[in-house]
Amino acid sequence: MEEKKRSSFSGRIGFVMAAAGSAVGLGNIWRFPYLAAKYGGGIFLLVYILLAVTLGFSLMVSEIALGRKTKLSAIEAFSTLNKKFKFLGILASAVPVIILPYYSVIGGWVAKYMVVFMTGGSAQAAQDGYFSQFISAPVEPAIWFVLYIIATAVIVLLGVEKGVEKASRILMPLLVVLSVIIAVYTSVQPGALEGIKYYIMPDFSKFSVKTVLAAMGQMFYSLSLAMGIMITYGSYLKKDGDIEASVKQIEIFDLLIAFLAGLMIVPSVFVFSGGDESQLQTGPGLMFEMLPKVFDSMPFSNVVGAVFFVLVLFAALTSSISLMETVVSIVQDKLHWSRKKSSIAVLIFTIAVGMLSCLGYGPLSFISVFGMAFLDFFDFISNSVIMPIVALLTCLFISKVVGVDPIVEEVKLSSAFKREKVFRVMIRYIAPICIIAILVSNLLSYFNIFVI
Ligand code: PFF
Repeated sequence: MEEKKRSSFSGRIGFVMAAAGSAVGLGNIWRFPYLAAKYGGGIFLLVYILLAVTLGFSLMVSEIALGRKTKLSAIEAFSTLNKKFKFLGILASAVPVIILPYYSVIGGWVAKYMVVFMTGGSAQAAQDGYFSQFISAPVEPAIWFVLYIIATAVIVLLGVEKGVEKASRILMPLLVVLSVIIAVYTSVQPGALEGIKYYIMPDFSKFSVKTVLAAMGQMFYSLSLAMGIMITYGSYLKKDGDIEASVKQIEIFDLLIAFLAGLMIVPSVFVFSGGDESQLQTGPGLMFEMLPKVFDSMPFSNVVGAVFFVLVLFAALTSSISLMETVVSIVQDKLHWSRKKSSIAVLIFTIAVGMLSCLGYGPLSFISVFGMAFLDFFDFISNSVIMPIVALLTCLFISKVVGVDPIVEEVKLSSAFKREKVFRVMIRYIAPICIIAILVSNLLSYFNIFVI
């Protein structure tokens, strides 16, 4: 059966929970802490917050307003406003199509770790080489990946209100509670204060252009910007839903969880390694390799580890739901298929493509794409290349094609626009310059300092 009527969230809170669910994810818990550690702790935090409330705010308002104005997902939204910009919708939609498979592979790893800790395997997970052995195995990671993506698909199949919104309404508050519990527990461990100082106190000598670029790239990823997601979610928002207040609340969620994740991870690793900063800079491995060792050294290690990975799993799930929902909505809009048929098609596609990333560290490790394993390549091409291009073109599309005024008017349909001035300046001038800087730096760094 075809779906005629466009789905919608039950109200603004449902929308905020779902959009915050999209924003809060592995980016906050897995990526933010290692970037914060690498780029000087407190100073990174400060730059990140400043960017989120100016640049991130403006881009998120634009995307949600575009979605709500057109009531369409990305491809159609851009082409309805101007035929020539259909390619931009396609490009934006390509990002979740690329991210969903590999994101779900990592989601599968998280599920595995959760079960390991739940079954008392803390000591085992803390062993050297445990993680690399696991991800290079031929079968086990694939099973976890398939289970994870099926769980995501079931929620998407249930629909926007009964699936996406309901899952987010339950999981997001739980996520905050669990984060506070773990952050408090790790913060009261002996010696943690030094680590907390390192994490929170800004050290201005560590400030550099790189800090800003890293914070900016992270902000895009973390707020799920430039991927058509906020356009799609905006299209499900009713006309009286206050856009400005919603964006503020989504950002508060996102910042809070990123901050707490840093608080859970950075000080405890700092203490564990005896204040050795280099240990914190192990990059992506921080969560799967370093953290289990840290947990294993604490009392109740299995409980702490299990609760931590449950919370990471929830965060990842609400994000992959948003990725899948976006892809499903594109298929529905384009091919006029039912939600069920579209969801199953996207599920099959995701399993097929995700297998490359999943097996890319094991049986397929002999294949490299531009010198990278599949997962790294998909992450690089979507986040470091396509995403900044989409963000840049979206700004130009708004300031030169649609005009800033219609977007401002759309926001004002449901509320006053308090930060209108900031918004106008950001979209017209500052955002494009910042985004070009990210794109250039990503491409330059590709050859020597590429990490996930
Ligand atoms: N924003 C999510 C995170 O921080 O983990 C991840 C994400 C979701 C990225 C959706 C991209 C996306 F399209």
